[in-house]
Amino acid sequence: MRSTPRPVIRPRRLRETPALRRLVSETRLHPADLVLPLFVREGVTEALPIASMPGVVQHSLDSLPRAIAEAAEAGVGGVMLFGVPETRDARGSGATDPNGILNVATRVAREAADGALVVQTDLCLDEFTDHGHCGVLDAEGRVDNDATLERYVAMALEQARSGSELLGLSGMMDGQVAAVREALDADGFTGTAILAYSAKYASAFYGPFRDAVESTLEGDRRTYQLDPGNRREGLREAVLDIEEGADVVMVKPAGSYLDVLADVAAASEVPVWAYQVSGEYAMIEAAAAHGWIDRKRAVVESVRGIRRAGADAVLTYWATELAGWIRNGE
Ligand code: PBG
Repeated sequence: MRSTPRPVIRPRRLRETPALRRLVSETRLHPADLVLPLFVREGVTEALPIASMPGVVQHSLDSLPRAIAEAAEAGVGGVMLFGVPETRDARGSGATDPNGILNVATRVAREAADGALVVQTDLCLDEFTDHGHCGVLDAEGRVDNDATLERYVAMALEQARSGSELLGLSGMMDGQVAAVREALDADGFTGTAILAYSAKYASAFYGPFRDAVESTLEGDRRTYQLDPGNRREGLREAVLDIEEGADVVMVKPAGSYLDVLADVAAASEVPVWAYQVSGEYAMIEAAAAHGWIDRKRAVVESVRGIRRAGADAVLTYWATELAGWIRNGE
């Protein structure tokens, strides 16, 4: 009678106990590798909830320092600030006004952070324009790449003056990294770093974010953000940004673009980050609220998957809470 062959190789051996599993884990999570995005709204006296992002708020200038102190206390590596201005116009004037909400918030944030975490700012016009596009428009209503670069340069200088340590260029205009780097250097801001949202896809997963910043956009961003089907092009954008002087490159969204993230991580000579965006957050929160998913396990697994694919750091709305769970690494 033939006996069933006995396996010689037994991968299960290393899964036997929690201590063994911990020892052989390939991907660890640490608070320092997390960045918390924060929304700051002009003209409000207290934090306001965002309906499509339960647990996330639009901060007032008064509530912002507390959130930063909590993130720092939890060991979070940095915060990324977004401004929600009271008024908007075609050029996005609020973005380059030293008293505009994002620039004021940056000064408040630097003081609150006191060096414990890195204060970063979103550098894009969409929150500040009345048409909601990431750049200025030409006579035909198309986003004008080169005219937009001039606005980004002015915005970059104002953010640097306000104390932003890392400028998050998220507008997807051609040549934006080179233009901003050159202007910063010419004005003496050689120490201000650039995070390029290099592979930023035209994604449905930004939906809740547009609520959070009360976006006025009609139509879409497909003439500047990447086509979700394009993998090679994501890598190409990252390589171009590194050549133009980006200090960090990013892939966004994260969960649906892990292949692009792995490609960029394999090719990059600079740190590679990923942005777990508002829709990714909202999906897990909504399923958890229905009792359809284990919230804590899903959050940890989603961020671990992004790290496993190659992200050195992850922007996530769960940064402070997650950091509390993984205080000593997980
Ligand atoms: C552009 C910007 C967007 C996000 C970050 N920066 C929106 C967009 O491109 O439409 C989305 C972030 C998220 O969905 O969490 N300023």
